[in-house]
Amino acid sequence: MVTKAIVVGAGGGFERVGTAERPVPEPGFGEITVRLRASSLNYHDYAVVSGMWGPPEDRIPMSDGAGDVTAVGPGVAEFCVGDRVVSTFFPTWLDGQPEVLGFATVPGDGVDGYAREAITAPASAFTRAPAGWDHAEAATLTTAGLTAWRALHEDGKVKAGDTVLVQGSGGVSVFALQFAKMAGATVIATSSSGEKLSRLQALGADHLINYRDDPAWGETARKLTGGRGVDHVIEVGGPGTLEQSMEAARVGGHISVIGILTGVAGSLAVVPALVKQLRLQGVLVGNRRQQMDMVRAIDANGMKPVVDSRYPLDSLVEAFRHQESNKHFGKICLEM
Ligand SMILES: NC(=O)c1ccc[n+]([C@@H]2O[C@H](COP(=O)([O-])OP(=O)(O)OC[C@H]3O[C@@H](n4cnc5c(N)ncnc54)[C@H](OP(=O)(O)O)[C@@H]3O)[C@@H](O)[C@H]2O)c1
Repeated sequence: MVTKAIVVGAGGGFERVGTAERPVPEPGFGEITVRLRASSLNYHDYAVVSGMWGPPEDRIPMSDGAGDVTAVGPGVAEFCVGDRVVSTFFPTWLDGQPEVLGFATVPGDGVDGYAREAITAPASAFTRAPAGWDHAEAATLTTAGLTAWRALHEDGKVKAGDTVLVQGSGGVSVFALQFAKMAGATVIATSSSGEKLSRLQALGADHLINYRDDPAWGETARKLTGGRGVDHVIEVGGPGTLEQSMEAARVGGHISVIGILTGVAGSLAVVPALVKQLRLQGVLVGNRRQQMDMVRAIDANGMKPVVDSRYPLDSLVEAFRHQESNKHFGKICLEM
């Protein structure tokens, strides 16, 4: 069997995106075949496809994939034909402490990804999808969902009554807001847009700050906690926001260093980190066991992700143009 795939040429660039056919072998020992139905866009996928971090060779992009199991190889007990599954970001990091360096094993970056209609892969590269979620919704979990989950629950050990600060209204931050509310935390949400702030409030954000109107938003956030400071910061901005994130954090607070929306390098005063005894934890998504825990928690709480828009697989570049416009709220998805 062969399948249709989207391929970006070596070096990346929207003008190098085209279609191709790829073989889909019968599943071998420990493998499953999945009819992929959806993917979702992340900043990382944008970097690969746009050429910002273009691949060294032709690559099927997209790290997120969800669909139906259509065949099961020998030795697979976890899945049956017809099961709805979602891919994992690190197919080889199944559990335990971080053991992967960078993106060499990541579908859509170091290896071929999920911008295609079918794939045969190790069963351990997928988990069950949440009950009642459609495929596009499930596809939002691989990267954005798990990053937010791991930051708050694995690294942060978030608990009811904690205060969580989320930056902006992209995929990771909206998931973090939802998971924080699910855990009983107070959420301070920031955005550049008043309209998006209203939507964040509708999702449960307790306090709202427009970071464009209020450059000292970290101090504002700290004041909103009565001066104590926030327990967890979902840091997606990078060098341009870290200083204010440290300002917002409480003594001994936890900052999940996740994103680079303001750039990859900058100067930073380190003194606040030591004076406040902050825990800056680098995050690179998470492992398969964490994804399974996240799916169980979603099932138990009846949560639904925020899907901004859905594009057909062939409109991949159009979908990235929409992401580039920054008009989105939550996740942009592809369907095939
Ligand atoms: N380390 C990891 O494991 C990991 C995993 C996933 C993503 N990431 C990174 O996290 C970042 C966000 O990813 P994403 O997929 O959630 O992106 P996204 O969906 O494209 O979200 C972008 C949003 O971030 C907000 N934003 C932009 N500049 C900002 C700033 N200076 N301060 C605060 N918010 C700002 C904007 O929200 P408003 O329009 O509301 O202002 C924008 O809509 C990216 O850098 C991505 O590479 C890292």
